[in-house]
Amino acid sequence: TYVVTDNCIRCKYTDCVEVCPVDCFYEGENFLVIHPDECIDCGVCEPECPAEAIKPDTEPGLDKWLKINAEYASIWPNITIKKEPMAEAKEMDGEVGKFERYFS
Ligand code: SF4
Ligand code: F3S
Repeated sequence: TYVVTDNCIRCKYTDCVEVCPVDCFYEGENFLVIHPDECIDCGVCEPECPAEAIKPDTEPGLDKWLKINAEYASIWPNITIKKEPMAEAKEMDGEVGKFERYFS
């Protein structure tokens, strides 16, 4: 599966949702997640994200993000249509540790 990681938080560009052939993105207040059981590993979303927040879970160190994606994909509503990025998207792009600061 592919996973959405930290840099999506407070950017939420949503380019990713338009290209997913199985519509497996789910939307929270300030970031998106991918449903790991629905993702077919096609990889087309990865280069679409301007924040480079989407990664294959085969990359090392993404266990935490796989858990976060799985947990919230089962709770949040599906999103398939692109919308305006968050107002602070440009300033927040590249900030580190967003999950710790803005989510938990
Ligand atoms: Fe959707 Fe493919 Fe991205 Fe998985 S890798 S979330 S199936 S676009
Ligand atoms: Fe987030 Fe990138 Fe999609 S910022 S909403 S994963 S295009």
